[in-house]
Amino acid sequence: MGPQKTSKSTQASLFLCIAVAFSIVQCRVLDDCPSNGDCGEGLYCFSCPQGFSGNRCVRSTITDQFTLVNNSLPFNKYAFLTTHNSYAIDGEPPRTGVPRVTFTNQEDNVTQQLKNGARALMLDTYDFEGDVWLCHSFGGQCHDYTAFEPAIETLREIETFLAENPSEIVTIILEDYVQAPNGLTKVFSNAGLMKYWFPVTSMPQNGQDWPLVSDMVAKNQRLLVFTSMKSKQESEGIAYQWNYMVENQYGDGGMKAGSCPNRGESSPLDDKSKSLVLVNYFRSVPMKQLTCVDNSADLINMLHTCYGAAGNRWANFVAVDYYKRSEGGGSFQAVDTLNGKLLCGCDDVHACAEQFVAAADIPTGQGKIAEECSSDADCEAGLYCFSCIADFQGSRCVRSITTNQFRLLNNSLPYNKYAYLTTHNSFAIEGSALFAAHPEAIRLTFTNQEDSITQQLNNGVRALMLDTYDLKGDVWLCHSFGGKCHDFTAFGPAINTLKEIEAFLAANPSEIVTLILEDYVEAPSGLTKVFTDAGLKKYWFPVTSMPQNGEDWPLVRDMLAKNQRLVVFTSKKSKQESEGIAYQWNFMVENQYGNNGMEAGNCRNRAESSSLDDRTKSLVLVNYFRTIPFNQFSCEDNSDYLINMLDTCHGASGNRWANFVAVDFYKRSEGGGSFQALDTLNGRLLCGCSDVQACVHGSTTACKP
Ligand SMILES: *[C@@H]1O[C@H](CO)[C@@H](O)[C@H](O)[C@H]1NC(C)=O
Ligand SMILES: *[C@@H]1O[C@H](CO)[C@@H](O)[C@H](O)[C@H]1NC(C)=O
Ligand SMILES: *[C@@H]1O[C@H](CO)[C@@H](O)[C@H](O)[C@H]1NC(C)=O
Repeated sequence: MGPQKTSKSTQASLFLCIAVAFSIVQCRVLDDCPSNGDCGEGLYCFSCPQGFSGNRCVRSTITDQFTLVNNSLPFNKYAFLTTHNSYAIDGEPPRTGVPRVTFTNQEDNVTQQLKNGARALMLDTYDFEGDVWLCHSFGGQCHDYTAFEPAIETLREIETFLAENPSEIVTIILEDYVQAPNGLTKVFSNAGLMKYWFPVTSMPQNGQDWPLVSDMVAKNQRLLVFTSMKSKQESEGIAYQWNYMVENQYGDGGMKAGSCPNRGESSPLDDKSKSLVLVNYFRSVPMKQLTCVDNSADLINMLHTCYGAAGNRWANFVAVDYYKRSEGGGSFQAVDTLNGKLLCGCDDVHACAEQFVAAADIPTGQGKIAEECSSDADCEAGLYCFSCIADFQGSRCVRSITTNQFRLLNNSLPYNKYAYLTTHNSFAIEGSALFAAHPEAIRLTFTNQEDSITQQLNNGVRALMLDTYDLKGDVWLCHSFGGKCHDFTAFGPAINTLKEIEAFLAANPSEIVTLILEDYVEAPSGLTKVFTDAGLKKYWFPVTSMPQNGEDWPLVRDMLAKNQRLVVFTSKKSKQESEGIAYQWNFMVENQYGNNGMEAGNCRNRAESSSLDDRTKSLVLVNYFRTIPFNQFSCEDNSDYLINMLDTCHGASGNRWANFVAVDFYKRSEGGGSFQALDTLNGRLLCGCSDVQACVHGSTTACKP
């Protein structure tokens, strides 16, 4: 029953979701397994006699929707796995001196539940032994034979998780019998949880959207607590659950196929003045052996039934017993389904990431890479119509946008484990207006790019090389020689470009931009001033957090959580001390630029850089552009030659793949160009595959064909 059901439901899913089904096949969900070690990452070996014969690999961890897609939507636009009676755990030793005589609802401890992706916990709180305890009981009394543990212990596990995971939000739903005045406030304070408290005053009163998850993370308001006791909203500032949430009937009454009645305490499910929807799906008396069946297709069916009952709203919380028991995907697949529905209307959240990547460009014709075209509109999304006269006749569809490696896979690795497309002389743009003092001035210098800075960033460029000079009492971007900027070589005041970068960072809270400055500014604090004026200091990644000795950089997701999303390097050593701007050669190695860096088979270091294989620098940059740019040839330069040079430099760097690849006219290519070069690098870096598109979610070794 298990395997057939799985393949049927994948056939029914949307075209975009096929890649997802495929990666599950790779991960070997439902393959026979003698032991956990035989199952891929995110799976464990489990037996569900009612669902399948023998032992098979089933899921054991959630997909993190924030890292897979993004966290820039309101809190109520995401779904969260919820454990029912999270504290009632098998094998918890009795703590009261008498044996416990009550049932359990979970097998993992709360730390494990959180690590595997549970993000909401249902806890029953009671006065007991002069303290607050977690207890199973009836009639509002906790007894020594039904008590599990003092609440402080579970709350401390939650505190540890929040401290270690600065991008995650945890919701606690209390069935609350505590009568002691400020009893809950005291135990939350003692557990160190008040610093994460999301204030009840910021919760929407009338069915509006919640704040954005990215803002909740930025403010560190990452703990939501709901109580079932109305008076506590007033007396202790703990949100009364039924002001904000609707919920279906729990227990056996909530498991009748095709019906989704509301719980007595909740307003009707379709009351849209409450923005959150919770679906319970567990038996009145837990039956461990049957839970794997309950948590599978029946659960997903109930989510559809409750969607209708809730006025066409998908649940935000799905509460289950023994959350890891399933016939394959279980409660994890249920949450992936909900997030897919909530985020992009697809059957699985993985499809949202892929859809987002594909939807990022406007033209939507049929033309595939290298097929003939007469205009951009003839080409598929992500391609444009281009003529590379050095290589082919006529016009063909070629790539125009990078694959977003954070969205396609995840952003939970160090910054130096990813590759970033870099534009050389990003500011030297064809046809850009003249800003020089004399309106009649003519610019007498070459250009290296065609798109504006904003277009470059929107197409996936993530590192910009800018040459900064003193000019007219300000900082300007300029092509020049000998450290002087002239009217006839100046492009524009740096502030204009920096403001474009600021706007991009503000609009894209999951992205990081790196600036590499060839810096001739002598004015004291000249750069600090212009970065401040552009509003960029708030994104500054501090030089003190950069690895000094070849260690890994911080994780990308932590850089996002701290909003430290602008990494700036200067070529002027003294500024690291004087202005806190990182001196590039302390942190990065780089090959020779210009014609000398384009000799096939040869990758030597640039003079200012230590040797490429110096592993005390964690970042590797490969330059691949001519000394004098020739836009007609860049399409050839940016194609196979570039990828060959990346291989050569990989060897020269002591078997390290480049993090930055710097090119001129980045969109000119014979087909895949610099975008394909990036996909190759990210594939190598992230999963050892020859293309990042071949990486399989959650695996460091498997490659799709
Ligand atoms: C939770 O369980 C894991 C695995 O058994 C164990 O290593 C860890 O110490 C437990 N944590 C707590 C707080 O009980
Ligand atoms: C976040 O993802 C959602 C769903 O795919 C999308 O609509 C939204 O535009 C994304 N936001 C950003 C800033 O990327
Ligand atoms: C992120 O992706 C990498 C590469 O595929 C993988 O090794 C890692 O386990 C993933 N991390 C998470 C938290 O999914």
